Amino acid sequence: MSVKIGFIGAGNMASAMIGGIIANGLYTKDEVVACAPSASTRNKVSAKYGIKVYGTAAEVVRLTDFIVLSVKPNQLQDLFAEDGLKFDDSHLVMSIVAGVKIATLEAYVPDSRIVRVMPNHCCLAGEGAAGYSRGSKATDRDMERVRDVLSSSGIAEEVKESDLDAVTGIAGSSTAFMYMVIDAMADGGVLCGLPREKAIRLAAQSMLGSAKMVLKTGEHPDKLKDSVCSPGGTTIEGVRVLEDSCIRAAFIAAVEASTVKSREMGRK
Ligand SMILES: NC(=O)c1ccc[n+]([C@@H]2O[C@H](COP(=O)([O-])OP(=O)(O)OC[C@H]3O[C@@H](n4cnc5c(N)ncnc54)[C@H](OP(=O)(O)O)[C@@H]3O)[C@@H](O)[C@H]2O)c1
Repeated sequence: MSVKIGFIGAGNMASAMIGGIIANGLYTKDEVVACAPSASTRNKVSAKYGIKVYGTAAEVVRLTDFIVLSVKPNQLQDLFAEDGLKFDDSHLVMSIVAGVKIATLEAYVPDSRIVRVMPNHCCLAGEGAAGYSRGSKATDRDMERVRDVLSSSGIAEEVKESDLDAVTGIAGSSTAFMYMVIDAMADGGVLCGLPREKAIRLAAQSMLGSAKMVLKTGEHPDKLKDSVCSPGGTTIEGVRVLEDSCIRAAFIAAVEASTVKSREMGRK
């Protein structure tokens, strides 16, 4: 097959993943296709990435055996009712549809193999963090293909399906928490006299650098924190203020709240 991967849905997440796959050389633009009902989405995505974008899912499913399901949860029913849409045992379906369980997807496409993924939108910047879970028929080779796609724009961890809600909390929703931290740090910089734009850039780069230190050194974050707190110095003063504000408890509770919400939504 000359087409290596096809996206059903060409919205925000599909676009981010297509961008990562092409930019990182996993597949060429001729090896990636997508579909979307609206002409405006089709034109936008084909102009941006130079890929072929079709009007129906049936065309994408005919062209390739590796499908990324990237529609909204409430669009799934209409999608699977589409005339001429035929999934068979050649198809690997990687679903990024939030909250929709493997069992539900397997009922829609009983002959195909499913891998369920929870990505986050940082794959747009090549720094995604995703969790993925194996469906009952997925093979080791299927898992490898999914891992390759996710790794082309970030990191990916295989988890049990029941843990995907926690991945939503720590990697999906948490991007909003991190933006709030950057914004608040920038406010601090402005309060102390820095121009807003410079404060935002410095706060964002400090977060990026700290994250890279954790991932690259493999050190525990607490050890890295200790290594920059000199006795009686500036950093430990700030750390004391954060501890007084119960910042750790707030983050733990935020991740837990998002996880619980994801579980509730999955039950509906
Ligand atoms: N955004 C995130 O940060 C994030 C994170 C994790 C998981 N997710 C999951 O990723 C999925 C996609 O999210 P998104 O933010 O990319 O949504 P989105 O921007 O609304 O994209 C949905 C896409 O699906 C297309 N579509 C709708 N019905 C279709 C059909 N019957 N056949 C083919 N395409 C169809 C839409 O086409 P038109 O453009 O023509 O309407 C649109 O391009 C969702 O299930 C979401 O839960 C999103």
